Parts: sequence; structure tokens; C-alpha cells
Amino acid sequence: MPAKAAGRTADSESPPEPKHEIELEDLPGVGASIAEKLRESGYTDLMELAVASPGDVAEAAEIGLTVAQKIIGEARRKADVGGFESGTSLLERRKKLGRITTNSKALDELLGGGVETQAITEFSGEFGTGKTQLAHQIAVDVQMPAAQGGLSGEVVYIDTESTFRPERIVDMAKGVGLDPAEALARIHVARAYNSNHQMLLVGKAQELAREHPIRLLVVDSLTAHFRSEYMGRGELAPRQQLLNKHLHELLRFSDTYNASIVVTNQVSARPDILFGDPTRPIGGNIVAHAATYRVYLRKSKPPKRIARLIDSPNLPEGEAVFSLTTEGIRE
Ligand SMILES: Nc1ncnc2c1ncn2[C@@H]1O[C@H](COP(=O)(O)OP(=O)(O)O)[C@@H](O)[C@H]1O
Ligand SMILES: [Mg+2]
Repeated sequence: MPAKAAGRTADSESPPEPKHEIELEDLPGVGASIAEKLRESGYTDLMELAVASPGDVAEAAEIGLTVAQKIIGEARRKADVGGFESGTSLLERRKKLGRITTNSKALDELLGGGVETQAITEFSGEFGTGKTQLAHQIAVDVQMPAAQGGLSGEVVYIDTESTFRPERIVDMAKGVGLDPAEALARIHVARAYNSNHQMLLVGKAQELAREHPIRLLVVDSLTAHFRSEYMGRGELAPRQQLLNKHLHELLRFSDTYNASIVVTNQVSARPDILFGDPTRPIGGNIVAHAATYRVYLRKSKPPKRIARLIDSPNLPEGEAVFSLTTEGIRE
């Protein structure tokens, strides 16, 4: 296979193509059969392997944890040699990092200044805690100019539960002084009929992003289809592998287009079918690894909601209170 010369420069106008010049089989310890198992589980290139967790790789390839760790280590080394981004261009890219207001100062502060680009932010919580309302609000706010907390951007909204409501966008757009018709026109909504369709829509989003300044991609809900389609205990592994692939495609989208990814997630009320902790968002380690910011929502005295930041690597844990009103999210 000829080496591709698709070099990634910090300021290139067209988004870079992911690199695939090194095959999985080039890694020490990876023969044809392991490579095939990895590909079947969604690890199609070095990048996916380099960012995977040893436990997931061990399970996917039916190998021991130590071997999995070695393979991941090699993938990381080779990925560097294969010309991933230089530190310089990474720094340049980080400088372009943007933030979108949630319309609540307290929640923005909890997130370190708003919903970040080049990252996945997860809002989890029980039914009615405001996940969908927040997704709508951020889809409106991203359209505002930077001075008002937006990114002058457009939105891809993947709706898996048929809960997207244009009427709410109209209310919220009026609430922040945007023209409702224009606000609606800048939100590209697709209803995902199943998990496979949901994953395909990320590819469609890429096509859209080449023609529109997409700065936010919403998946509401990230996990509902996966959860209902892969019910049995024996189906947990395939479900997690697909979810892993989906999340990495979303992450790649966020890096390529300097966009924010906002996903919603239910919490499991059935400890018997998941990981033993009934209060955790579903998706387990896979979502925990991929999501940069995880916000857990719970109800308080109406119309108040409490948001708690969980598992953040670089921000202190804390809580924020906000309200759900007809005009949208408020203090
Ligand atoms: N038009 C509205 N005016 C005021 N509050 C609303 C309106 N629509 C929804 N809400 C609030 O949002 C809540 C539903 O939140 P939602 O985001 O759909 O929950 P989740 O997605 O977490 O299940 C309702 O219980 C209500 O408090
Ligand atoms: Mg919802």
C-alpha cells in the first residue's frame, strides 16, 4: 500500500484525512487472526488501537491483558512514527479551542467556562432531568457570536428518541435574541432509527461539515438504541465495542472540525444487567474513557436542576444549580 501524503498542518483549510498507512499486522504480536478479531470489533486502524483500553482490546482479540497492553504500546509508538500530529500543531490546535455557553453561569463555571470544543461532554441523568433541554439550549447558543458565548456555528443534531422539538428552539432563540427561523435553519436534525443508522449519521455529519461551519454535534441519546438492541448479558461485549467505535468517530469529528460533541446518557436503574452500580450512567468504562466532561443531572425543587461534574481529569468536582424555564436554561 503506497504511503499517503496527507500531511496535517495546523492551518489547512480542508480537514485532514485520517492516516492508515501502517496496518494492524505490522504490530509485533499481531498476526492475521488477532488482526481480524480486532477489525471485527471496530479497531480498524492504529489510532483506534492506540487510544483503546487494555481490557477492551483483550476482550476483543481474546488475548491476555499483558499482551493487549503490549500491542497498545506498540500502536502508540508506531502511531507517533507514522506522523500523527506534532506537538507544535497540537498546541496550535489547542489554542483554537472554543467554548459554548449553556446559558447558566454556574454550569459554565462547572465546565471550566462552557462546553468545550475538541471534546465530548456527556449529560447523564434520569428521565426529565433536563438532558434534552440542555442539548436544545446549547444548539441555540453555539449560533451566537463569540462575544455572547457562542461560536457563530451551525449544528448537527442526531435525535434517537424523537424528542427534538423545533418549537423549543423557537422559544430558546427568542430567549437569547436570535431570529427563530434562522436559528432553526442552522440546526441540521437527523432522526436515527437504530444504532447502526446512528453511527452512519456521523459520516453524514462529516459531509455536512465540509459545507457548513458545524461547531456542535449533539447525540441525544448516545446509548438508548445500543441499550435496547443489545439486551442480553452475552451481548454486552459487542455493544461496548460498537459504542467504542462510535465514540471514537465522534472524537475524531470534534478534533477535525474543532467542534463540541454533546451526548446525553441515561442512568441505569437495573444493577443486575450492568456493572453493579445502579447510579452510574450506562456505557460503563467505554463512555468514561471517551467523554472529557461528564455531568450528572438530578432534580431539585422545580424548576431547578442540579448538575454535578464527575470523573474530570482537570477540573475540581463540584455542583451547579440551574433552572429549566419556557425560555430555556436560566440561573
Ligand atoms: N416548554 C417548556 N417550558 C418549561 N419547561 C419545560 C418546557 N419543556 C420542557 N420543560 C422542562 O424540561 C423537563 C424535561 O426535560 P428533558 O430535557 O426532556 O429531560 P430528559 O431529556 O433528561 O429526559 C420537563 O420536566 C420540564 O421541567
Ligand atoms: Mg431526553
